[in-house]
Amino acid sequence: MTEILRGEHLRREYRIPGQRSPLVAVDDVSLSVSSGEIVGLVGESGSGKSTVSRMLVGIEQLTSGDLYFDGKPVRSRGDFRTLREDVQYVFQDPYGSLAPHLTVRQTVGDSLDLRGLGTPKERDDRVAQVLEEVGLRAADAKSYPAVFSGGQRQRISLARALIMQPRLIICDEITSGLDVSVQAQILNLLLELRDRLDVAYIFVSHDLRVVKYLSDRIIVMKQGQIVEEGAVEQIFAAPNAEYTRDLIAAVPHFDPTRGSTAAL
Ligand SMILES: Nc1ncnc2c1ncn2[C@@H]1O[C@H](COP(=O)(O)OP(=O)(O)OP(=O)(O)O)[C@@H](O)[C@H]1O
Ligand SMILES: [Mg+2]
Repeated sequence: MTEILRGEHLRREYRIPGQRSPLVAVDDVSLSVSSGEIVGLVGESGSGKSTVSRMLVGIEQLTSGDLYFDGKPVRSRGDFRTLREDVQYVFQDPYGSLAPHLTVRQTVGDSLDLRGLGTPKERDDRVAQVLEEVGLRAADAKSYPAVFSGGQRQRISLARALIMQPRLIICDEITSGLDVSVQAQILNLLLELRDRLDVAYIFVSHDLRVVKYLSDRIIVMKQGQIVEEGAVEQIFAAPNAEYTRDLIAAVPHFDPTRGSTAAL
């Protein structure tokens, strides 16, 4: 497996007005993801999952630490531009993350249009192709987000992420607001796309069931730090940290003897 992206000793502090010491949202986190791999990032609310994942794509500043993309340091604006073509970020909120006044064609094809890649016809064709890849119809291109359900909107967000043929997609709680059955459809779509397009994911979620279903490897965060990481089976069979044991115990209907994802 080829390493795509690596963060070393990532730290993010926020200045809080009226407070002397900064809030340390991410504290010395090192992680990496390789081609075709699915890394689950879990932890309670406020543990720093979103901050880390946003730092990895350069939409959140690093207070300190280093990023490496394809083994090369990412420092300049140009480095981050290159990274952003191959590493996409999909947000949680299927309602807020799509511009309501833009058609699906405009939203999904935005990266191609901005860069003027190909002819207008070729760009339309590519949009139609990615829409079909995520289980929508080519004809959906002319519609506006308002007519789509939450699950369909996340498919549109995924289509937008896929248009530049990224090698890694960071999914931040992308199934959180969805019904369980719709969630399962999106998770299966992610697996299918991984097999078909050889794309890797960092899948951020506070829902261990979902993470277990999807991931090859799990990273557990607490208060800005990594408290545990390892292969999925290993973490579920023998969690080291008490915190991880608590997270596992908190999963509804989780039957450790079967190790199954009953609700999925
Ligand atoms: N822009 C900001 N300004 C100040 N503090 C912030 C900011 N963004 C995040 N934080 C703080 O950093 C910490 C980590 O937040 P983060 O959003 O990364 O957690 P999370 O694990 O993604 O949580 P959730 O599961 O709720 O999405 C929290 O204490 C949060 O309040
Ligand atoms: Mg978050």
